[in-house]
Amino acid sequence: MSAQDSSFQTDALIADDIDAYLEQHQHKSLLRFITCGSVDDGKSTLIGRLLYDSKMIFEDQLAVLESDSAKHGTQGEEIDFALLVDGLAAEREQGITIDVAYRFFTTEKRKFIVADTPGHEQYTRNMVTGASTADLAVILVDARKGVLQQTRRHSYLVHLLGIKHLVLAVNKMDLVDYDSATFDAIVADYSKFAKEAGIEAFTAIPISGFKGDNITSAPSANTAWYSGPALIEHLENVEMAATAAQDRSFRMPVQWVNRPDLDFRGFAGQITGGTIKPGDPVRIVPAGKTSTVKTLSTFDGDLDEAVAGQSVTITLTDEVDCSRGDVIAAAGDPPEASDQFCSTLVWMDETAMKPGRGYWLKIGSQMVTATIQPPKYEIDVNSLDHLAAKTLELNSIGVAEFATDRPITFEPYAKSRELGGFILIDKFTNATVAAGMIEFSLRRAQNVHWQPTTITREDHSALKNQKPRVLWFTGLSGSGKSTIANEVEKQLAVMNRHTFLLDGDNVRHGLNKDLGFTETDRIENIRRIGEVAKLMADAGLVVLTAFISPFRAERQMVREMLPEGEFIEVFVDTPIEVAEQRDVKGLYKKARAGELKNFTGIDSPYEAPETPEIRVNTVDMTPIEAAEYIIAQILPLK
Ligand code: ADX
Repeated sequence: MSAQDSSFQTDALIADDIDAYLEQHQHKSLLRFITCGSVDDGKSTLIGRLLYDSKMIFEDQLAVLESDSAKHGTQGEEIDFALLVDGLAAEREQGITIDVAYRFFTTEKRKFIVADTPGHEQYTRNMVTGASTADLAVILVDARKGVLQQTRRHSYLVHLLGIKHLVLAVNKMDLVDYDSATFDAIVADYSKFAKEAGIEAFTAIPISGFKGDNITSAPSANTAWYSGPALIEHLENVEMAATAAQDRSFRMPVQWVNRPDLDFRGFAGQITGGTIKPGDPVRIVPAGKTSTVKTLSTFDGDLDEAVAGQSVTITLTDEVDCSRGDVIAAAGDPPEASDQFCSTLVWMDETAMKPGRGYWLKIGSQMVTATIQPPKYEIDVNSLDHLAAKTLELNSIGVAEFATDRPITFEPYAKSRELGGFILIDKFTNATVAAGMIEFSLRRAQNVHWQPTTITREDHSALKNQKPRVLWFTGLSGSGKSTIANEVEKQLAVMNRHTFLLDGDNVRHGLNKDLGFTETDRIENIRRIGEVAKLMADAGLVVLTAFISPFRAERQMVREMLPEGEFIEVFVDTPIEVAEQRDVKGLYKKARAGELKNFTGIDSPYEAPETPEIRVNTVDMTPIEAAEYIIAQILPLK
């Protein structure tokens, strides 16, 4: 039965028994899919065709179409259809830079949400957004052009994003005279790529979005040689991810806690896997405490059972610690927790990835800081070769290891999109810079444990009769950081304070002698200094550091490594003209002459602190005055 036949039946049912119709409608399953392909592969036409053939033109769209047809004195299907397609195309043009357009349609058997994404490479971000919730992808190919770079790129991306059902829709068959050999050649070509890319299966359908061949019923009169399903038929019958998810072990990331003031609090979230009933044993991860489900409730009342995809509030029979970011899981098969991982990354920001920098990592309802290693390799989506790479640029895909500042509960992406898929967010711009998929956790994280020591940092501090501090001097080369820090240390020594000065040029002779002045090396430079300064503060010292430390993100990272109030940012605010004029080491001259690359302030950026604890102006103050000014602000250090 074609969708057109069935819509007549629907009309009859609506007229006869509206309640029965609504009831039937409500219980239909929902399939989410994405359409992708190159710019002119005919996406708008196909989507228009799907909406049109399933008679899901909304009333206002119908009204427009009818009045337009009346105006033009034309009637009939082709005209209405063409107008609809034009409308969709125009709408997409306007929306093109904004986001993904989601469209809804329904047939007798199923409801559908289709994510319509622009085809240009610069919109990878939108494709990733659309694909991340889809069960199926329709990859459109123009029969005249065959498999193109974008076809491969999009197929690889949707495969990476875990879409199990791929449809290769060979479109515009009418323009190649419905030639079966053309279709077969494209399918053979695509099969070769699919195999290399690890795509296990796909369904190839010869169609004409424009003429309607093999959209609702197959084979069309023009493609008698085709023996597979029509597109809509296929969409109606594929298995959905949510159904598959029900067969897995129970997991629910906790989104929020209801009434934390009550003894038996409710934990709300969306079930990402399995089923759950009152009485089932559960485990709270990562803490590991077990309990039993007492009730399951929704807005509509209590449930006897809940399944993957449903949002519920769970109460437990015991009072246990559980908060946002924790995962409630099947007691016998909980997910792991780790803080080091290997993952695939799709970089989606204009600014390239900065190895070593801390990004916000959002996974399920958990938010942590993650630092990424330089990529192990980048993937050439055309040849699928692994290329050596120092970073990942806009739209590139690669594999890299990363570490998080505390353990996160996860599952490999192949097992769970919800607990294995994450996004990275720039801490300063708040832009989503990458989408990632966890491949596996690195064993070493599980076997290295923090060793508790008997003499605590409080003991060290008490023995020295002072509170530890990290005085973090930052400023341009030649701004006076080392000179002032040295003066501060001298004055503190006179006051019997225990100090240590870490200076850029000195540390670069030892601990950091393997590092240069690229962005990546500077980030690593500061990360190591930060770790050393933290250990010294644990030992109870007042630590002074004098490094350019040009990037806000790394200074912030060190700040977050230390207890609140211990990190004191001292901005040595010397204008570049003044520093350049002093040019104590002759480096500005060399940099201006092009003999020294990546020089801060010349061809490498300096991001001045916005709200430093202390700012010193070296134009108006001598180093001794500056040191006295700083000390006055940090005393009494007790
Ligand atoms: S940082 O940027 O990574 O914080 P750091 O403070 O360790 O730099 O080192 C800066 C010192 O290295 C400068 O004072 C200068 O003497 C020297 N130097 C050598 N090359 C450069 C360069 N390209 N940019 C800045 N400083 C450089």
